[in-house]
Amino acid sequence: MKIFIDTANLDMIREIDSWGILDGVTTNPSLIAKEGTDTPTRVREIAGIVDVPISAEAMSLKAEGMIEEGRTLASIHPNINVKLPMSIDALKATKALSGEGIDVNMTLIFSAHQALLAAKAGARYVSPFVGRLDDIGASGTDVLGQIVNVFLNYGFDTEVIAASIRGPMHVLEAASLGCDIATIPHNVLLQMVSHPKTDEGIQNFIRDYEKSKK
Ligand code: G3P
Repeated sequence: MKIFIDTANLDMIREIDSWGILDGVTTNPSLIAKEGTDTPTRVREIAGIVDVPISAEAMSLKAEGMIEEGRTLASIHPNINVKLPMSIDALKATKALSGEGIDVNMTLIFSAHQALLAAKAGARYVSPFVGRLDDIGASGTDVLGQIVNVFLNYGFDTEVIAASIRGPMHVLEAASLGCDIATIPHNVLLQMVSHPKTDEGIQNFIRDYEKSKK
């Protein structure tokens, strides 16, 4: 499974890239706002520090605007793909942009129906929001599994990005389902590294090593 980081913070991107595990970066308007910058500026900066796919979200709600914005965002760097929030206009824009060779990441996906339509329109990625489904008492993992299964049934090239990941268990569930990609916040990546038994084991080895020296 590919690992993307879900952030617009440059230090976090640099740090996770230094681990040797980074396959991509996803941003959204909320993450960009937290950094006090704008999408074109920040995705240009990200493209300058890592050579991986980077999602940049278009804000237009009409197909024509999405297409225009998508072209502008994609022209910033070849690694940039355009995030469009699921809608009829987004489907039309996906058809047009993918026809021009511009990758679309259809975002705010909450059902397999939406994912199927996005894939049919030519989306390169679909981003089901696992955590936000859990938030409303649904099962994000169930929806993720349905999408993976539907895409497998028909051999779609569209890759599934498990998004809105809230903890290591979401990552594990995505990997168990055969999801292509998980886009993971920095704090969850840190949680994935640690285990109390690893910390305890290191302390014990150090203690025994020190004893054996005497
Ligand atoms: O990038 C989209 C998604 O990952 C947002 O997650 O935690 O705001 O639901 P969250």
